[in-house]
Amino acid sequence: MEKAIEVNGLSYSYQGGDKKALDGVSFSVDRGSYTCIIGHNGSGKSTLAKVLIGLLGGFKGEVKLLGEPLNRRTIVSLRRRVGIVFQNPDNQFVGSTVGDDIAFGLENLAMPQSEMAKTVHEFALATGMEKELEVEPSSLSGGQKQRVALAGVLAMSPDIMILDEATSMLDPKGKGEIDSLIHKIKKSKPELTILSITHDLEEASHADQVIVLNEGKVLLSGEPSAVFEYEEELREAHLEVPFLYRFIRALKQEGIEVPPSLNSLESLEEYLCR
Ligand SMILES: Nc1ncnc2c1ncn2[C@@H]1O[C@H](COP(=O)(O)OP(=O)(O)O)[C@@H](O)[C@H]1O
Ligand SMILES: [Mg+2]
Repeated sequence: MEKAIEVNGLSYSYQGGDKKALDGVSFSVDRGSYTCIIGHNGSGKSTLAKVLIGLLGGFKGEVKLLGEPLNRRTIVSLRRRVGIVFQNPDNQFVGSTVGDDIAFGLENLAMPQSEMAKTVHEFALATGMEKELEVEPSSLSGGQKQRVALAGVLAMSPDIMILDEATSMLDPKGKGEIDSLIHKIKKSKPELTILSITHDLEEASHADQVIVLNEGKVLLSGEPSAVFEYEEELREAHLEVPFLYRFIRALKQEGIEVPPSLNSLESLEEYLCR
């Protein structure tokens, strides 16, 4: 399988930081996969995201994106291929209207005006923001702001999209809408690699891969069914096992074996009813 991200022995210390924010982190992410990174506050998730988008230089170890090592020579071309949506909807606006904002990255690519207008419209439509193109971003709800941020990232046609707790500041309705939008985007663009940093363990239980960070180190990684077997280790890292996997474990204790491919309550229910 072709790799979108390969990280080997990655360490990073902030200036004046007393301990390493990342400490010998290694993992890889398949192209076109959906990977979740989970971990307690301060475990190094955002630092990792910032290294991957080329925002933090001076790291130790090796980072390869789309087969190319991330370094001073490759950073400009790689940056265009990796998009990020941050946690705080208010911190990612650069344009005075929604349309300007979606266009911002494209302007930097020197895209012709007519093509740009078309692209902006296409992604406003894809994210359900086509009626707000002339609106000032500050008047939008948190969920709408994150839609605009997603539209701006997607318009750049990235190979990798990183979501750093992109829904954690939204209310449940806003969160649900963004989650299903991301789901829809992934379906329509299967080659897009998504790396989602999340506190939502239910989301992580549907990922292709889960990586657990703890104090700057990878504690566990693998398919959700394998990672969530480590209840004790997760608890020590201040994380709990999602309901689905606690349920599967309880079934096992009753002697009912469940195939590891079942990764949703719906598929589990269907299986048990058979
Ligand atoms: N700008 C910074 N300067 C110094 N230390 C930082 C900075 N940003 C984060 N840290 C420290 O690095 C560690 C990892 O932080 P972070 O990557 O933000 O964790 P997470 O996103 O998992 O909550 C924490 O100990 C945090 O205090
Ligand atoms: Mg963070």
